[in-house]
Amino acid sequence: MAEPTRAEFTRRRAQLMRLMGANAIAVLPAAPVRMRNNDVEYDYRQDSDFYYLTGFPEPEAVAVLVPGRPVAQYVLFVRERHREREIWDGRRAGPAGATAQYGADDAFPIADIDEILPGLLEGRERVYYTMGLNPEFDHRVIGWVNRLRTQARSGLHAPQEFVSLNHLLHDMRLFKSRAELALMRRSGQIGAVAHLRAMRFCRPGRMEFEVMAELLHEFRRHGADTSYPPIVGSGPNSCVLHYRANNARLNEGDLLLVDAGCEYGYYASDITRTYPVNGRFTTEQRAVYEVVLEAQQAAIARVKPGNHWNEPHDAAVRTITAGLKRIGLLRGALPALIRSGAYKRFFMHRTGHWLGMDVHDVGDYKLEDEWRVFEPGMVLTVEPGIYIAAGSSGVPRRFWNIGVRIEDDVVVRPGGCEVLTGEVPREPDEIEALMAAA
Ligand code: GLY
Ligand code: MN
Ligand code: MN
Repeated sequence: MAEPTRAEFTRRRAQLMRLMGANAIAVLPAAPVRMRNNDVEYDYRQDSDFYYLTGFPEPEAVAVLVPGRPVAQYVLFVRERHREREIWDGRRAGPAGATAQYGADDAFPIADIDEILPGLLEGRERVYYTMGLNPEFDHRVIGWVNRLRTQARSGLHAPQEFVSLNHLLHDMRLFKSRAELALMRRSGQIGAVAHLRAMRFCRPGRMEFEVMAELLHEFRRHGADTSYPPIVGSGPNSCVLHYRANNARLNEGDLLLVDAGCEYGYYASDITRTYPVNGRFTTEQRAVYEVVLEAQQAAIARVKPGNHWNEPHDAAVRTITAGLKRIGLLRGALPALIRSGAYKRFFMHRTGHWLGMDVHDVGDYKLEDEWRVFEPGMVLTVEPGIYIAAGSSGVPRRFWNIGVRIEDDVVVRPGGCEVLTGEVPREPDEIEALMAAA
């Protein structure tokens, strides 16, 4: 796996420390282990911010950045090596590994953090720490600062201010490095291969969960996992935006909407394809599909440096509203239909989101109340859709249960953007040819 190098993690910490300034300290806890039931844990996934700065995959760890501190600016608290626990649960780096393998300037057992951390906080003005994600750890951080405050009489100086790390760190995460883009490209490719497999597998009589199994098989055999629970919705389920049950039979004549992406090396892909269960679009399905495809192409064309965040969405709204009017599902003048939001009956979500270590990735969409302007290295999804639920009033029956979304991942490039997930077809003729050949 083309992981970011140790030097890249070092660069990230150095950049964050520069942004924080000399009087500050940052404290980041690893993700907690979460119990599924009794003594069974959920699969462990490191916290994205923590991993972004450390590359350290273990739980029960805390990273501390102390800019300008002469002895050690980057301190890691980690689990100690433990012969018996390692027999049961696998290897731990331990403090020695945290310095030797992960580049910490200094490392201590996590059990010693109460003794050591207040000393690191002492004399710093600002604590960069994101409150509210981990209430238990919030209390400990507040406790360490309060302990210092009570010692003010002995001349100790406690930090005066808590500042969320989100603003600085998430802006860094919004711009993907070359190494990150390599992982995202791979994540996109694996996701695309999985969708191809699902498309070939799809036919009447099979179950939605069988299609999901094909996706999972392809993710896992490439060393990837899901980046969110897959949505495999056929017929009426294609109109349920967050459908999760994935347990219906695929029926002749229905559409199948598959929204599934993988996580590879901590980076997500997020792909949706919609296709006919029997491999041939009906006239109405194709008409709706072509509007969504046209909207997606119009939106992707607006993803380029200098355009702002909402331009792809505006383009998708315009194309979808015009398309719905053309096929007779909306009536009226185009500008009025756009202004009144008439399209929201059928297109009720946004056209995309930032994508990265998290599927709905971090990063501001607005800066000082203005839509953010695209810059090279930002990654986002482009995912317009039209959903026509059964019973939609004023809509002919033959359009009911048609839910179409087409979603791809794109990275902003000088002059335009690059599609990371283009290896799975979008053109209806190509989809039909692929399914006919399966
Ligand atoms: N799969 C989540 C999304 O498309 O945003
Ligand atoms: Mn998405
Ligand atoms: Mn999606």
